[in-house]
Amino acid sequence: MSLSRLALSIAESPTLKLNEEARILRSQGQDVINLGIGEPKNRTPIPAILSATSRLSTGDVKYTPTDGLPTLKKAIIGYTEENYGRVVRPENVVVTAGAKQAIHSLLFTLLDPHDEVILMAPYWVSYPEMVRMVGGVPVIVMPEEGTFLPRLQDIKRAITSRTKAVILNSPNNPSGMIFPEEFVAGLVELCERKDLYLIADDIYHKLVFDGQRAAPAYGFTPKDIESSRIIVVNGISKTYGMTGFRIGWAVGPRAVVKVMTNVLAQTTSCASAISQVAAEGALTGSQSYVESLRVTIQNNRDVVMQELTGVSSVCTARPQGAFYCLPDFRHYNQDSAALASFLLKKALVVTVPGKDFGMEGHLRLSFSGSVKDLTEGVARIKWALDPNSPNEIYIGDRQLVRDWL
Ligand SMILES: Cc1ncc(COP(=O)(O)O)c(C=O)c1O
Repeated sequence: MSLSRLALSIAESPTLKLNEEARILRSQGQDVINLGIGEPKNRTPIPAILSATSRLSTGDVKYTPTDGLPTLKKAIIGYTEENYGRVVRPENVVVTAGAKQAIHSLLFTLLDPHDEVILMAPYWVSYPEMVRMVGGVPVIVMPEEGTFLPRLQDIKRAITSRTKAVILNSPNNPSGMIFPEEFVAGLVELCERKDLYLIADDIYHKLVFDGQRAAPAYGFTPKDIESSRIIVVNGISKTYGMTGFRIGWAVGPRAVVKVMTNVLAQTTSCASAISQVAAEGALTGSQSYVESLRVTIQNNRDVVMQELTGVSSVCTARPQGAFYCLPDFRHYNQDSAALASFLLKKALVVTVPGKDFGMEGHLRLSFSGSVKDLTEGVARIKWALDPNSPNEIYIGDRQLVRDWL
């Protein structure tokens, strides 16, 4: 069968693939713990439910304007002003079916074939694939040894005449790191000096711990929205735990937003009307849901860090935000895909190979789930790998005996 070479070269999403594997194992009665998926366990905030159900009960569910319902855009303008101190106009905002679609359609809008986009490892798995999907070239900048943060001079060195954009994701998926203020300031200055777009993927910006704050890129430019090259991507998936609603957005110069809207008009027409109304409810209703989710996730972070200290020879940087950590498992196996597959087979725990995030030898663990799953998941990893742990473990009422160490 003849298929597009480009499409064939696009990798399967490892997290969605592992999720499916976990689902199949569960349907076979296996007691699988999923530390792979980045999805909070919370219920949808009540204002979002009320908003969506009241719209649904009118029976008036039609196409919306491609760039989003004016009332949702108004809520996003309010959110931007409150969280970034930026006053933007409706022409600066475009609503999409999730932040993922915002990034994809934005890259389609910005890149010509062979244009380069600088990504900082560890990076979110979808960035390189999305860059390649629209004909661009991902250029990876590795972090400084022993850290998850790159040096500005390495980013500078990676810039060529084909560089079009840099993507910044702080707090970061998969490391949980917040980029220091001086780094963000330097990056904004560099991008403006070199005339590069800076895509700030702020999807986790409110899920930060210990009173820390992820410095927004906007804070470091004297330019107004029309002359700045900063484009902010955000959404309701993580902050409000509303992954299934599929609503995200981008805020940027109107010239970018206009072309992005044309791209979306020819692909999805608009995001789901019901979901947009739900997003409006979430953004304009009580924000206590966000704080309660943040506190739960911070507590989960404490639990997972405590449990991981019990696994010999595994070193983990303490996450400052988002809901992931990226422990270094090189002592046990340099090949993270082989290790993740071993852990799924032997210990029935889903983890994501660090290789997919540009950090071979590491595994990404998500702590967005329950404390019980976190505690038991890490206990199973310890049992499978660490010779200092007891030889037997119970999974449900099944006793498993380790015979490989
Ligand atoms: C860094 C990052 N950006 C964007 C997204 C996509 O968010 P959405 O579910 O709104 O498409 C994710 C989801 O995992 C993410 O981790």
